[in-house]
Amino acid sequence: MPVRPILKMGDPRLLRNAQRVKRFDSPELAALITDLHDTMLHAGGVGLAAPQIGVDLAVVIFGFETSIRYPDAPPVPKTILINPIIEPIGGQQTEDWEGCLSVPGLRGKVPRFHHIRYSGFDPDGQSVEREVDGFHARVVQHECDHLWGMLYPMRIRDFSAFGFTEVLFPALTSAAEST
Ligand code: NI
Repeated sequence: MPVRPILKMGDPRLLRNAQRVKRFDSPELAALITDLHDTMLHAGGVGLAAPQIGVDLAVVIFGFETSIRYPDAPPVPKTILINPIIEPIGGQQTEDWEGCLSVPGLRGKVPRFHHIRYSGFDPDGQSVEREVDGFHARVVQHECDHLWGMLYPMRIRDFSAFGFTEVLFPALTSAAEST
């Protein structure tokens, strides 16, 4: 069952604090990662978190070379991140547009830390640690938010910068968004 249904905002399973993964290098974890990967590609997303397919575990995937949903975004390395921790560096926040596969058809400007260090584990239990900024940092913060029950609209400060993708970005809608 590789492509799984994506839960939408309003589903209480999106509001949980995800459980930490305790066992690495297992067939169950490998199957989950395959499902996340196939579901993300099918939906054309740049990231996906396990809670979005109803799995209560601290696993996110993200990364792309180019994205139809974010045509101006620089590439982000394809990454599987388990039990992540994020530390802001410097505290500077920037606002930029985000969407979410669990909030289809909408975009909003969301404040995020510009510069972060993130760490966690890969599926074999090897540690991952990176210091990143810009869109990469934004994607990681967005995906990890799903693990603490946060959806991006909960972070919006200025609701005049929140609306339907087809109205805000008509060119994008025709290319990318089916919902
Ligand atoms: Ni999302």
